[in-house]
Amino acid sequence: MKKTLSPKPWLFPRPVLLVTTRDVADKDNIITVSWAGMACTHPPMLTVSLRKSRHSHAVILATKEFVVNIPTSKQREAVELCGTSSGKDTDKFSLSGLSKVPASVVAAPLIAECPINLECKVRHVLPLGSHDLFVAEIVKTHVLHAILREEGGLNDEALDCMAWGSEEFFKVFTQRKHLLVPRFQ
Ligand SMILES: Cc1cc2nc3c(=O)[nH]c(=O)nc-3n(C[C@H](O)[C@H](O)[C@H](O)COP(=O)(O)O)c2cc1C
Repeated sequence: MKKTLSPKPWLFPRPVLLVTTRDVADKDNIITVSWAGMACTHPPMLTVSLRKSRHSHAVILATKEFVVNIPTSKQREAVELCGTSSGKDTDKFSLSGLSKVPASVVAAPLIAECPINLECKVRHVLPLGSHDLFVAEIVKTHVLHAILREEGGLNDEALDCMAWGSEEFFKVFTQRKHLLVPRFQ
């Protein structure tokens, strides 16, 4: 038996990301984002969906640049802070204790504690309603050596990233023995 409901935004799992920006006055900010995803291989493109009321929305619209940083479960508290306070009136870098590292291509900083940082340039902005969809090209990738496989691929099991659903944070990867279908059999 299924109940038929009005339309709901119920797509799972949703990634947990920290998006960094630098505004035209050189002030840096961090926003927690989960309405996001990969969109294209060549060129590598991703999407981030932001409410028009977010401070980060105005900054990204003006600068057309940002960095997507993938936090680990160790940064859960910082993720909550960056998702509940606004860069309009707070400095989330000092409040969270997260550290900045200069990016290579864009002005926005990388978050040192995040094992993956994707520098992005906005190629399209699609007004959808409550949210605008930012379609951005990944122009540089930074990754911690410890989560790379010898052949160069990503050892995502070691990533310890999070997903967001039912107003809770979940660990995405677990021990190999708990995988639904073990990969190498
Ligand atoms: C787990 C989580 C996910 C979130 N995802 C989004 C999102 O995808 N888009 C969005 O506009 N706001 C999202 N938010 C809310 C913003 O992070 C929040 O409003 C933040 O305070 C805005 O910061 P800013 O005003 O400095 O840009 C999320 C919050 C949390 C806690």
